[in-house]
Amino acid sequence: MNKFQDVQQHLLQHRYHWLVTGAAGFIGSNLVEALLRLGQQVTGLDNFATGHRHNLDMVRDAVGVDAWTRFAFIEADIRNEAECARACAGVDFVLHQAALGSVSRSIDDPLTTNATNVTGFLNMLVAARDAKVRRFIYAASSSTYGDHPDLPKVEDRIGNPLSPYAVTKYVNELYANVFGRTYGMESIGLRYFNVFGPRQDPNGAYAAVIPQWVAALIRNEALRINGDGETSRDFCYIDNVVQANLLSALASNEAANQVFNIAVNERTSLNQLYGMMRELLRERFPHLETHQPQYVDFRRGDVRHSQADISKAGALLGYQPTHRIEEGLQQAMAWYVANLAPSSDTSAKPNKR
Ligand SMILES: NC(=O)c1ccc[n+]([C@@H]2O[C@H](COP(=O)([O-])OP(=O)(O)OC[C@H]3O[C@@H](n4cnc5c(N)ncnc54)[C@H](O)[C@@H]3O)[C@@H](O)[C@H]2O)c1
Repeated sequence: MNKFQDVQQHLLQHRYHWLVTGAAGFIGSNLVEALLRLGQQVTGLDNFATGHRHNLDMVRDAVGVDAWTRFAFIEADIRNEAECARACAGVDFVLHQAALGSVSRSIDDPLTTNATNVTGFLNMLVAARDAKVRRFIYAASSSTYGDHPDLPKVEDRIGNPLSPYAVTKYVNELYANVFGRTYGMESIGLRYFNVFGPRQDPNGAYAAVIPQWVAALIRNEALRINGDGETSRDFCYIDNVVQANLLSALASNEAANQVFNIAVNERTSLNQLYGMMRELLRERFPHLETHQPQYVDFRRGDVRHSQADISKAGALLGYQPTHRIEEGLQQAMAWYVANLAPSSDTSAKPNKR
């Protein structure tokens, strides 16, 4: 049995109370679903800044009404200290996902990004400390590597941040570390690298590349590639991220107060990604035979290449990604086709996962 199977077995036999912030978002809603399937008690918190009620409806439909009775939802804003304290009461583990993502959004509006990602984060840390939670696991980011040239990225070698978003995510790590030293609090930061999968929002100016492109391909709309298309990323399927969070909660003390890369240790260029996605959708959507991307300017604040060394997460957490980009894309495409295809009513509640 590998470490993740051990953890799943343990959870099936022991019920803990988890707080998932950002529960109506992409990663948060997938964490809620996984925890409910493992018999856990879950509180979700969200203010719907970028998340959606229909994500929670999909989780309810997927897990069934019995499991859903173990879920409580708090509509709240992490910029409000009292609401963070209320949410942490009686909680064993916090999986803190609530934040404003997107490098571009942070360049357009650094103040709101800072208020949520730094002040909101600090509010959650204080609330978790005061509630004496067992462990605080938080979404860190590969953007923290900034302009450091080395590939693959190793946790203790970071450069200068390239965007306000990257600053906020690095500040999270600094605060978590200081709370460990000063108050003896246990935290684990997971530096996610370009996560994708079901329920990631395809709409809006700040949508991530994979859902944005799936929507464009399915709807036969213009698809823009920033720069020459040779920018590369270590795309990480959501199941790997869920695994990393659950492993972190139950990992030995040796892993506490550290940060870990969570990805696959592979690099895919945007041109390759476009080709893979078009290939997966071509049979179903004949218009893709002639579809061509448009090349536009490089985006401000973007890192050129990204690839994670995941040996630290393997050694200390027992993390072993189950999905490479190919398997992940297949599952994600199937979900997007079911939910975005023109034949279905896209204004209706999307299908369950
Ligand atoms: N998706 C990725 O590739 C990726 C990569 C690195 C890090 N991350 C981090 O992972 C976390 C989850 O990202 P996601 O991709 O699921 O994004 P998402 O936008 O789908 O989810 C974020 C959730 O946080 C909620 N939220 C935002 N501000 C809030 C506030 N003030 N109070 C309460 N809730 C608030 C949003 O409504 C949303 O539901 C974020 O911290 C993000 O920075 C994501």
